[in-house]
Amino acid sequence: MSSPGERDTSEWYRSFGEAEARGQSAIYEEWALGVADDAEVLSLIDGLPLQKRQPNLVFACARLLGAAEGGYPELRRWLVHNFAALATETLRRSTQTNEARRCASLLPALSMLAGPLALLEIGASAGLCLYPDRYSYSYDGSEPIDPADGRSAVLLESTTTGPVPVPSVLPQVVWRSGIDLRPLDVRDAHDVKWLETLVWPEQAERRERLRSAIGIVRSDPPRLAEGDAIDLLAGVAQNAPPGATLVVITSAVLVYLPFAERMRLVESILRLDANWISLESDRGLPAVRAQLPVDGGSDSRFVLALDQRPLAYTGANGQSLDWL
Ligand SMILES: C[S@@+](CC[C@H](N)C(=O)[O-])C[C@H]1O[C@@H](n2cnc3c(N)ncnc32)[C@H](O)[C@@H]1O
Repeated sequence: MSSPGERDTSEWYRSFGEAEARGQSAIYEEWALGVADDAEVLSLIDGLPLQKRQPNLVFACARLLGAAEGGYPELRRWLVHNFAALATETLRRSTQTNEARRCASLLPALSMLAGPLALLEIGASAGLCLYPDRYSYSYDGSEPIDPADGRSAVLLESTTTGPVPVPSVLPQVVWRSGIDLRPLDVRDAHDVKWLETLVWPEQAERRERLRSAIGIVRSDPPRLAEGDAIDLLAGVAQNAPPGATLVVITSAVLVYLPFAERMRLVESILRLDANWISLESDRGLPAVRAQLPVDGGSDSRFVLALDQRPLAYTGANGQSLDWL
């Protein structure tokens, strides 16, 4: 996940192409490197507010509006002709990629807590990560761990290293609630289309998993409060049932908050009588980062932490878990 920092737009797109898209999406890699060397397109993108120049957002909005998933020359023609519409679309959207597979990283941490659990996710998007008890899991190709009522339509697979405390049964979740600046509704066709478009072009397996997870969540949609988590957290937490362990989850959200706001959010999380599971880039939380192994390397992996104590490096989409 790129953040703008002080980089110029060309560098931002080049870094996205080389460090994030390469190996994941040949189309996005070609598009990003094409933009990085294209002064005319860069000047169009530079007309957008800083946060809206994000490659992932610009490319998803272009595809949503009909840009073909072809080579860069074709995209370039499309961008130049349709930039006004693209600009409007970027202003009303943000990247809200919701990846159910991250539950494969959350599960071992959830299993360390006494149940039953009340889950409160900050930055929940459509809430797919609020259903860790409804998916099946297989670690290193093991026999799946299933929900209480049997095999799920969604099997989340992950590879592991180290002593990951993989549970034999899934935690009992008695309450789930989320907060998002703009919650997405799994029952709304436009929101579902946006979620699907946020998956990169070649990632058919992810798109399939997304559709299956949406099917599960649609049958029992979560409560999602709309607004800034800094304002809403304490009020939403009050609705958690007594007798359940309240667990705040932050997953791929903290880097979206400017540092001062992020620290305010951390303070409000710490004021709650709750456990906190974070699944964030190592840039997300200074207290977690300070405890990471010095040679752990800062790469594209996330860090799983419980109450700001690092537990594991994980693949950003839940595909791997390297226990510390
Ligand atoms: C990349 S998505 C992650 C979704 C989900 N947590 C996951 O891991 O699949 C980040 C979400 O955080 C939301 N978000 C960003 N800043 C927020 C804030 N201050 N308060 C509430 N939600 C926020 C965005 O709207 C977006 O839906």
